[in-house]
Amino acid sequence: MRSKQIYFPATSYDFGKIVTELFGINLADLDMLLDEQYKEQFKVGADSSTIFHKKFYDKYHEGWGELQSLYDMFIANVIAPQYNEDFLYQKFPTFRVHLPGNVAVGAFHNDAEFGHPAGEVNYIIPLTNSDGTASVWVESEPGKKDFEPIEMVVGRLIQFNGNTLTHGNRMNETQSTRVSMDFRVLPISKYDEANNSESVTLKTKFKEGEYYKRFVKTNLVSREETINSLIKSLNADTNKISDGYHTFGELYDHRITLFILVARREKKIQVWRSKKHSDGSEWAGWFLLGIGKEKGYQITYHLPIEKWDECGFAETLDAAPEFDGHTSNDVLNRLKLLTS
Ligand SMILES: [Fe+2]
Repeated sequence: MRSKQIYFPATSYDFGKIVTELFGINLADLDMLLDEQYKEQFKVGADSSTIFHKKFYDKYHEGWGELQSLYDMFIANVIAPQYNEDFLYQKFPTFRVHLPGNVAVGAFHNDAEFGHPAGEVNYIIPLTNSDGTASVWVESEPGKKDFEPIEMVVGRLIQFNGNTLTHGNRMNETQSTRVSMDFRVLPISKYDEANNSESVTLKTKFKEGEYYKRFVKTNLVSREETINSLIKSLNADTNKISDGYHTFGELYDHRITLFILVARREKKIQVWRSKKHSDGSEWAGWFLLGIGKEKGYQITYHLPIEKWDECGFAETLDAAPEFDGHTSNDVLNRLKLLTS
């Protein structure tokens, strides 16, 4: 088999959007950014050092959290289900640009010729829809040389055995640039730590921690953990994150308003407000609204300072009563007692 197409939700793994933002142009029109460069057909080496590659990898070296997290998430959710064992995967994908009138990779080859370990599986993520001379050509069996192009469609991952099947590309006779990313996966059962061969382009050894990262199936992180680490790495505004019904921002607004209402209506227990914690520290922009001063009975929330005036019904204290260490759960239990 030449190749296999694996459908994935392109809107959830929108690599094209991130790369398009980097170049500021529709990726199929990337060649429009050139004047007269790269008219000569690339040889091995020059094919991966264009201004486009430089921009892509400079961004990677700066720390491209957005693309790295999406790629790692893709590995966990799209690639891992294809394997029944732990595997190594390329740390960061390789970038390919196939300009009209040129090639994307200098020569037909199989990856074993470049020192890649046996057992590696190749994947391509198309960032443009490309076919014919703008695509990758692969033989059907090792040595057969009956090359045919792979149809490349955004949202369809291509899997092929580039380690043993000879592959390459022809001069792109279409008017559009093909842009894609590719990476390799090595099942752990095929990994030989003693292998010292290294990547021609990256000069890193095909080892865990160098060219590869390990994916441990047994330690599979939950989708929730993946989302939480993504929120952190993207420095996303959590107030805009939604469960599909409400954003965190909305829910916090509701909590604040409801707590003020509860505090305003409380008749039996002392209600207080303070800009300082019991130890004298402050959180800029926040104050504490509390119900109860006695240890074991305190219910407190931090409220935005804009709500200070709304809470004029509460006794104003220089500092909060000494904190009794109540947890989120304690507060829930104490709130239930208030209503009983
Ligand atoms: Fe290759």
